[in-house]
Amino acid sequence: MRVLEGLTLSRPVTVSGLAGSNEASALGRPSHRTAFLSVVPAPAQIGRGDPSRYDLEAVPNAQNRGARLRPNPGSRIRLPRREQVGWVLGVWIPCLVYAIVRYNVFEGVEWVHLPLYIVNKSVAFAGVILIALAYAVGKAFGGPSGSENVRAKAKFLGLAGFSMITLHILMAMVLLSPANYAKFFAETGKLNLTGEMTFLFGVLAYGCLLIPAIATLPYMYEALGMARWLTAQHMGYATLALACGHTLAMGLKGWIDPASWPGSMPPITLLGFLAALVALLIKAAQLVRRAT
Ligand code: HEM
Repeated sequence: MRVLEGLTLSRPVTVSGLAGSNEASALGRPSHRTAFLSVVPAPAQIGRGDPSRYDLEAVPNAQNRGARLRPNPGSRIRLPRREQVGWVLGVWIPCLVYAIVRYNVFEGVEWVHLPLYIVNKSVAFAGVILIALAYAVGKAFGGPSGSENVRAKAKFLGLAGFSMITLHILMAMVLLSPANYAKFFAETGKLNLTGEMTFLFGVLAYGCLLIPAIATLPYMYEALGMARWLTAQHMGYATLALACGHTLAMGLKGWIDPASWPGSMPPITLLGFLAALVALLIKAAQLVRRAT
C-alpha cells in the first residue's frame, strides 16, 4: 500500500500512460499493464461524518477491467422516471402558475413577456426550492439520513436544481438590460450598487453550486475520498446562504412594503429567500441536536 498525495494506492487498475514507464515502476507495480492506483480515502482523510454511512462496498466495474471502485453514495439507485418527472413538474408548475398570477395577472406585466421574463422567474424559484429540498431530504422528510435511497433523492433533487439554476442564469443573461431590470442599473447604463451586490451573490452562489455538481460525476467519491467528497457536498449550503444574499439584495425594498404587493402576493425574491433559509435552519437545527 502506498500513499500518494493524500490518496491510498491499493488496488490494481489499468493505466495505459504508466505501462512500462519509470513512473509505473516507481509505484512498485507488476511488469504487465497494471498499476496500483486505487483511490480509497487515506486514514487522515477519514474523520468527518460517520464512515459506516458512506463507506460503501466496492463493486466490480467492467470498464475498469476488473478494478473494484466504489460508486458515489446514492448512485446505485436511480429514481423511477415517474418520480423524477413528478419532482420537477411538481415543483416547477406551481412556481410558474404563481409567477403568472402575480406578475402577469395582478402586476400587469404584458403577456408577450411570459416566455422568457416570467418563465425565468419560475425557473429561478423552482431551482432554489429543489436545491433546498436536496439538502433537507433525510432531515425533514424522505427517510433516514444517509440511506442509499435518501442519497439518491438528494442527488436527483440537487442536479435538477442545478439544471434549473443554469437555465435561470442563461435566461437572465439574455434579459439583462435596463429596460428589463431598471432597478439594477444607474442612469449611466452601468450597474448600480443593488445590481453589483445582486450579481456578486448570484455568481458566487453558482460557483459554489458547481462543486457539489461536479462531485456527483461517476466515481468522484472514490477519487476524492470521503472527507473531501463530503466537503464538496456541503458547498451547497454556501450556495443556499449566498442565494439568500442574492434575493435579499434585489428584493428587500419590496419585502418591507406588503401594501405594494400585487394581489397581496409576496414577491418571488422573498419566497426564494425563505426556501433557502428554511433549508439552512433545518441544517442548523440538526447541528445543534448533534452537539447537545
Ligand atoms: C450568474 C449568476 C446569476 C445571475 C446573473 C442571476 C440573475 C438574476 C436576475 C437578473 C434576477 C431577477 C429576475 C427578475 O426580477 O425577473 C434573479 C432573480 C433570482 N435569482 Fe438569480 N442569478 C444568478 C444566480 C442565481 C443562483 C445561483 C440562484 C439560486 C441558487 C438564484 C436564484 C434566484 C431567485 C430565487 C430569484 C428571484 C426570482 C424573481 O423574483 O424574479 N440566482 N437572478
